[in-house]
Amino acid sequence: MTTFHVRPLTSVLGAEITGLPRVDTIDDATLAELMAAVHEHKVVFVTDQEKLDDDGHLAFMLRIGAPYVHPLAHVAGKTDPIVEHIIDDADHPPFQDRWHTDVTWDLEPPRIGSLRPIEMPASGGDTLWASMYAAYDSLSPRLQEQLEGLTAHHDLGDGEAFKSKGGEAIFEMAKELLLDTRHPVAPVHPVTGRRYLNVNRQFTRSIVELEPNESEALLGFLVDHAVHPNYCLRHSWTVGELCVWDERATQHFATAGHYPARREMARVAVGDPV
Ligand code: SIN
Repeated sequence: MTTFHVRPLTSVLGAEITGLPRVDTIDDATLAELMAAVHEHKVVFVTDQEKLDDDGHLAFMLRIGAPYVHPLAHVAGKTDPIVEHIIDDADHPPFQDRWHTDVTWDLEPPRIGSLRPIEMPASGGDTLWASMYAAYDSLSPRLQEQLEGLTAHHDLGDGEAFKSKGGEAIFEMAKELLLDTRHPVAPVHPVTGRRYLNVNRQFTRSIVELEPNESEALLGFLVDHAVHPNYCLRHSWTVGELCVWDERATQHFATAGHYPARREMARVAVGDPV
């Protein structure tokens, strides 16, 4: 077991982890401690990972959870989990500059996300995270109680990002496959036992049990409330770190202020442990 140091970055979410060797070499006990830190701090940044490559990154994530294959990749006939490289440059403008939790339009979305900066612009390119526990906890008890019985409908939205990634035909096929994805609005996290707010502006369309105008008003309030600056952390990336986050407990937003400069990130997401 390797002892490491955890430095909280705010009182709401985020921590820096120092003192770990390359994460694909740590033993099971150290991995369990690291995951405890992920669940406590919601998003962690592990330093000194310069030597981690795509193979090591994927192998590390597959020790945490079940392989997750993005529905668009499934539709395109791909079945193996991969390290996705997100590349922004003058010809490929950033497209993750919206608050979201990854792939909530899937019936079984990814549960743990990870990012490894490969190339950073001279300035900009930060990513923000928001705590969905803080968002839920700060609601009045009366509203919390009402949310507990509600479910929301999620879909791919306008698909701008997905079309640019997978092409129009793949996007349309994926849309057909996932016509009726519903998730609870305020579920209980299976690891921490805490309730969290589970709606996001990019993918949540309506609250199923409410009239359309009620749904629009409540959802509009909730998606704004969820990302109040008090519940957020803004991270400036350093090449050589690895970020790991709890998808359920957070939303994230990749800022686009570096455009047209080049930015490259390696990303792997996984499901719950098998
Ligand atoms: C994402 O939205 O998953 C990517 C975040 C980033 O590139 O910072």
